[in-house]
Amino acid sequence: MDFYDWMLALHLLAAFAIAASLVLFSVLVVAGRRMTTLEQTRPLFRLGRIGGPLIGVGMGLVLLLGIVLAIDSDDYQLWDAWVIIAMVLWAVSAFVGGRSGTYYTGVQELAEKGGSEAEVLERLRAPTGARWHAATIAVFLLLVLDMIFKPWA
Ligand code: HEM
Repeated sequence: MDFYDWMLALHLLAAFAIAASLVLFSVLVVAGRRMTTLEQTRPLFRLGRIGGPLIGVGMGLVLLLGIVLAIDSDDYQLWDAWVIIAMVLWAVSAFVGGRSGTYYTGVQELAEKGGSEAEVLERLRAPTGARWHAATIAVFLLLVLDMIFKPWA
């Protein structure tokens, strides 16, 4: 395996870390809507703490290694349309995913700092967080399509 193969393997590993976190968050979003007591929500918030760092590190590495790949490749350049599209979509996904993260972290803080059970459960059921999360998945899928089909490459 040469340098490029290693970078590609690590790039894909980072992409899988993101995908794994998104699956975990999807389970938490769906399960959160079904909670009936504050006590039930605690394990969900505990699991959420795994997803945060995993998606953070994954997002950082996928961008860094993607840029390294584009620079190192003889076939692709940093200014190729599909690479620029990837960087734009990456920024959009970081923003949209960040909104989802901020929403659920807010609910978690409310739950841990003595917020009322009714309010915590209501926020978990509200469509706001779920919509940001669904949008994050949609942008992630667009990124995968951009990587696979490499438009105008
Ligand atoms: C969540 C974001 C990303 C995911 C899921 C992802 C996924 C992938 C996948 C599946 C491949 C393999 C494609 C193939 O071999 O045909 C790939 C390759 C590549 N990606 Fe990404 N990627 C992401 C972000 C980025 C970003 C932001 C950049 C640019 C800065 C980038 C640049 C590249 C390059 C240059 C390759 C090598 C293409 C090749 O050698 O065929 N990626 N990526």
